[in-house]
Amino acid sequence: MKADQNQIVVIFGASGDLTNRKLIPSLYDLHVQNLLPDCFAVLGVSRTKFSDEAFREKVRQGIIDFAKKPTDDEAVLDTFIQMLYYQPIDTKSVDDYGVLNTRLEELNASCNTGGNYIFYMSTPPSLYEVIANNLAAHKLNKEKGGFRRLIVEKPFGYNLKTAQELNKKLLRRFKEHQIYRIDHYLGKETVQNLLVTRFSNGIFEPLWNNKYIHHVEITSAESIGVGDRGGYYDGSGAMRDMIQNHLLQIVGMTAMEPPSVIESNSIRNEILKVFQSLRPIKEEEVANFVIRGQYTSSTIKGEKVKGYREEKGVPEESRTPTFVGMKFYIDNWRWGGVPFYIRSGKRLPTRVAEIVIHFKRTPHRLFEGLQGFDGHNQLIIRIQPDEGILLKFGLKVPGMGFEVEKVNMDFQYKDLGGQYVPSAYERLLLDAMLGDSTLYARGDAVEAAWEFIDPILNAWEKDDSIPVYGYPAGTWGPEVADMMIEGEGMHWRYPCANLANDGEFCEL
Ligand code: BG6
Repeated sequence: MKADQNQIVVIFGASGDLTNRKLIPSLYDLHVQNLLPDCFAVLGVSRTKFSDEAFREKVRQGIIDFAKKPTDDEAVLDTFIQMLYYQPIDTKSVDDYGVLNTRLEELNASCNTGGNYIFYMSTPPSLYEVIANNLAAHKLNKEKGGFRRLIVEKPFGYNLKTAQELNKKLLRRFKEHQIYRIDHYLGKETVQNLLVTRFSNGIFEPLWNNKYIHHVEITSAESIGVGDRGGYYDGSGAMRDMIQNHLLQIVGMTAMEPPSVIESNSIRNEILKVFQSLRPIKEEEVANFVIRGQYTSSTIKGEKVKGYREEKGVPEESRTPTFVGMKFYIDNWRWGGVPFYIRSGKRLPTRVAEIVIHFKRTPHRLFEGLQGFDGHNQLIIRIQPDEGILLKFGLKVPGMGFEVEKVNMDFQYKDLGGQYVPSAYERLLLDAMLGDSTLYARGDAVEAAWEFIDPILNAWEKDDSIPVYGYPAGTWGPEVADMMIEGEGMHWRYPCANLANDGEFCEL
């Protein structure tokens, strides 16, 4: 749906990497699809002194490198580039927001945007409060004569206390309906499709509970290391960087009750309820329920790869986890007794994110001893790459007797005949322009997620005897994480990069 109201998107942190790699290319992709409003402008803001022209030149290459839509039509690209403007300011100086305001008024007049502004904070989190306060000092938070929306990048807080404080500070200046807390996993097509798979089909939901589900497994693996982000990452680690936000949001979508309507608060209420039902992991239980690991140097496909502690910006003695695997329960009627296993890590064998619903075995093992299949059906929802859904079930091996083999039934997005799948940022930016916050995290849910994670972080901080296990780069994390799940007659899935060839042992 095309954004119907003319508007200006102001990007704080416009000279940064996110703007260059994701934000501007995604806006360009929306432009190519004619989804931007008739009159639209982007105002890049940061301390670096660019002119409009210099900014346009800088981001042009980013668009060519990172946009999903073709960039070979110069006229289309130029039309978009002409919508981009730049205003250098010192984000911390309240006076400079007067300059920003004047610039906005000029653009507003020339582009007839009706005072509709979105402020995208793509800056270090320490500036979120300052920006909100300074915008408010110039009444740029007031929705008189135009909407005013604030998009907040992650991380949202460093722990429960700082997330609560940040919510309070932002809510002093903006109302909840104006605040859009981004979690780009919610913008992924396949994550949204969870709602559709579960609630538009009659066959899954009757089975989607503790009567039929044995356990749920969620993985988000990356093959890359921390690269140049060592400085940031070391203060964050896999728990804050991936689990508290992206993976818990997927847990929310997987475990939620059907909302009564497809509407922002209705859906977000259900996600909040899931977070509120997470069984707390007490500090003294952390070592049993949560495994942390850190990649060590190794050789992958003949190439020497650095260990985490040798990466740029990472202290030699760092105990920051680059892998987290954990087990927990959701204490409610639907999920009582079903373990959830989630894991995320860097420098794992492949880039893959998926949800696996492991169904219980048949109550009576009729084909015991004849099975090449253990009787656990699995539904695999592949978030990325090679997006799709796959069901594993038992089939009689053709021929004499009753030998049973495991086979795959699958749907893959690529079979849709090249239908365009928008990027997460494209979807989320357009939603914010349309005023739809469904796929943005609500303040209470962010806090509830931190409430669950906080005792784990506290235990790690206080208790050095909880190990940080090393795992060689290019492996599936520490072996003890396997034991955590294998101990119960189960094991993590080792997913192939390619869903179509999915089997237990496959080419990565
Ligand atoms: C970001 C994290 O939020 O998500 C990164 O900060 C991580 O460390 C990235 O690499 C993963 O996103 P995606 O979309 O590539 O799975």
